[in-house]
Amino acid sequence: ILNHARKVGGADAGTIFLREENKLKFSYTQNSTLEKRLPPGEKLIYTSFEIPVDENSLAGYVALTGKSLNIPNTEKMDPTLPFRFNRKFDEAAGYWTHSLLTIPLQTTTGEVIGVLQLINCRNQEDECLYFSEETEKIMSVFAGMAAIALERARMTRLMILRTIRMAEMRDPKETGPHVNRVAGFALVLYEAWAHREGLGKKEADEQRDHLRIAAMLHDVGKVSIPDAVLKKPGKLNAQEYAVMQQHTISGARLFIDKASDFDKAAMDVALNHHERWDGQGYPGHVDLVTGLPLKGLTGPDGRPLTKSGADIPLFGRIAAIADVFDALSSRRCYKEPWGEDEVLTEMEKCKGAQFDPQLLDLFFAKLPAIRGIQKRYREEDADS
Ligand code: C2E
Ligand code: SIN
Ligand code: SIN
Ligand code: SIN
Ligand code: FE
Ligand code: FE
Repeated sequence: ILNHARKVGGADAGTIFLREENKLKFSYTQNSTLEKRLPPGEKLIYTSFEIPVDENSLAGYVALTGKSLNIPNTEKMDPTLPFRFNRKFDEAAGYWTHSLLTIPLQTTTGEVIGVLQLINCRNQEDECLYFSEETEKIMSVFAGMAAIALERARMTRLMILRTIRMAEMRDPKETGPHVNRVAGFALVLYEAWAHREGLGKKEADEQRDHLRIAAMLHDVGKVSIPDAVLKKPGKLNAQEYAVMQQHTISGARLFIDKASDFDKAAMDVALNHHERWDGQGYPGHVDLVTGLPLKGLTGPDGRPLTKSGADIPLFGRIAAIADVFDALSSRRCYKEPWGEDEVLTEMEKCKGAQFDPQLLDLFFAKLPAIRGIQKRYREEDADS
């Protein structure tokens, strides 16, 4: 949204603020001039901050009134206006804001869900201009459409977070810290993989966002497992284990309609996180609706053909490493937590058998980041 708005408006920089109650959160920002000064591959770092929805700032005023503001020159603002341009952000960034177009992101019901700010209008010759009345009109229409898209994304995200909370009610071991750790480990692995593969930033960022939520939902299918199996304090017998294994299929079934790229990611993770590199994992090539072998993919024993190696989708191979590392490191109703040395020895032993050997190497190379995530989401913090 920001990229498109900047292109159409000819803006050197821009910001999207999203509203949370009576605050605006500085949520997305782009700045061509500052980005050009960075070494290749580096990202702009902005500390995120909030400003109140009130008359004291431009963005706050626009959110409060629902009216747009077009300021041709921040140095010559009408002194009777209630707000001042706050030069502190310019000073921190080493950047000078001249012209500024600030537009409310307003849904069809009139609710302001955020603010779009375009900074420094530039023409082809890089001359400093101000935003025209026509640009202002075009941007108002565009902002209306953007607001609807943002609102929809927010609702989708909320529903997904509620689904995660629902799984937590069913299985109190499936705690916030556990799903956050598995998601965190998975992201570290994916980023290391994407870097090694030389993946473009745009694709990597998009996939990364999907993987984060998908990894949080890896065990969501456990909601369908009866308590007697799910919460059994001791070892599962063969029959109980077969019931437990169904959590991969029932989890994947939730995303069967594949309505978005995210659904595809969530299905890949739920279905494949217990597949093994050597083909000894489960559930193999199954039909999600019936849980039976996929047509033409039945083995001689009548069971589904297994998946191995690169047949297993990448997100499944990543989630397997993340999930087992956390399972071994944590207390479970059937086991005590292991120390890190023991966990790493066990995982190394399973290289090329349970785990994709190259991904496991990346995992070991990233241990400092992995430990950071463990520290950030400790179990004791679960209730707070
Ligand atoms: P979980 O506790 O999150 O375990 C996730 C995975 O960690 C396991 O998937 C397994 O691949 C791995 N894992 C656990 N212990 C070891 C180990 O000693 N060595 C290695 N290399 N990997 C290990 P799995 O076995 O398919 O189990 C899936 C889920 O089934 C488990 O999730 C847990 O909820 C349940 N489960 C498995 N075994 C038992 C059991 O004996 N008793 C109970 N009550 N539940 C069990
Ligand atoms: C404001 O809108 O007054 C604060 C944000 C900015 O300076 O860009
Ligand atoms: C969506 O499909 O936009 C929601 C899931 C996500 O945040 O990636
Ligand atoms: C889990 O790994 O996802 C849940 C742990 C458990 O219920 O034992
Ligand atoms: Fe699982
Ligand atoms: Fe798990």
